[in-house]
Amino acid sequence: MKVQDQLLEKAVPFIKECYNELGKSSTEIESRLAEITQAIRYKGYYEHTLQELEHGAKMAWRNSNRCIGRLFWETLTIHDARQIETEEQMAEALFRHIATATNGGKIRPVITVFPPTRNSAQGVIIHNDQLVRYAGYETENGILGDPASLKITTLCQSLGWQGAGTPYDVLPLVVQIGHRPPKLFEIPGELVLEVDIRHPDIAAFENLHLKWYAVPIVSNMYLEIGGISYPAAPFNGWYMGTEIGARNFADEARYNMLPRVASIMGLDTRREASLWRDKALVELNVAVLHSFQQQGVAIVDHHTAARQFKRFEEKEEKVGRDVTGDWPWLIPPLSPATTHIFHNHYSNEVKLPNFFYRHEG
Ligand code: ARG
Repeated sequence: MKVQDQLLEKAVPFIKECYNELGKSSTEIESRLAEITQAIRYKGYYEHTLQELEHGAKMAWRNSNRCIGRLFWETLTIHDARQIETEEQMAEALFRHIATATNGGKIRPVITVFPPTRNSAQGVIIHNDQLVRYAGYETENGILGDPASLKITTLCQSLGWQGAGTPYDVLPLVVQIGHRPPKLFEIPGELVLEVDIRHPDIAAFENLHLKWYAVPIVSNMYLEIGGISYPAAPFNGWYMGTEIGARNFADEARYNMLPRVASIMGLDTRREASLWRDKALVELNVAVLHSFQQQGVAIVDHHTAARQFKRFEEKEEKVGRDVTGDWPWLIPPLSPATTHIFHNHYSNEVKLPNFFYRHEG
């Protein structure tokens, strides 16, 4: 099948579903489809209206099987950056995203959509996995910082960047347009909100000097709407505490903090059956939630998030849509069986529009 037929084949069901949800008439649907058919025939592509882009992005969130936070899909704010032409404009749009999303701690879900793929000579690329992330360095004494960032850190260094060498150096943005060389942009420090991690009753937590950034802005996925791919479409929600407390700080392949937390808590780490890992994990997660709340930064605990997901399931059922889900991702990594999700079954069917990982070349 020709590329253009494939495009039309994906555009049609999207326009129908999108316009139906927006309450448009069948006349409007027919005339828009005629317009799109013409555009594809004569230009080889069609362009989304702002409304199609906005609702399509919301549908993509609603269809994200791994996301427990989907109750809020309709609150997404869209930044239309389809007209950018230079790396500098790209960086500007990304700074604006960080500022709008952060909102002084009252985090807003935002997506910034850059130009769609037409040919690779113009393609826009964000090399960072998230807009804000900490560097990771290979040293003689092991890894310093976030081991998940080794590759992007090396890329930044090859472009002339040098980090301060702390465990929490915010990486610069690396953006690229077409076959031009990638360009590096340091994020202005005042844009990056961070939270110092303290425990409400265990004072010794301060000695670990843990901190984390306020807003997770995923930038390694492309957005597909109605057959059109947006290779750069960073989006964010707010954190669920376990992402930081049970994974980023706890995983052995990340900051690997459980032994140190156990040590400041005076736990018996010689016997697994003392459940020192579990005790350390719980207090670490208490500290993360407490610190974000105390410093006025939006965050959700996993019990509340699971209950919100339940409401999402009920809401979707009411309007006659099946909720798909990726069970191993939906269950929280802490006390999973205390949530209803653990005891449910979800179909992992992939509906469109959706987000997909950019496979790195
Ligand atoms: N798990 C990722 C992290 O710890 C963030 C993924 C997106 N999370 C979210 N709450 N929207 O950085």
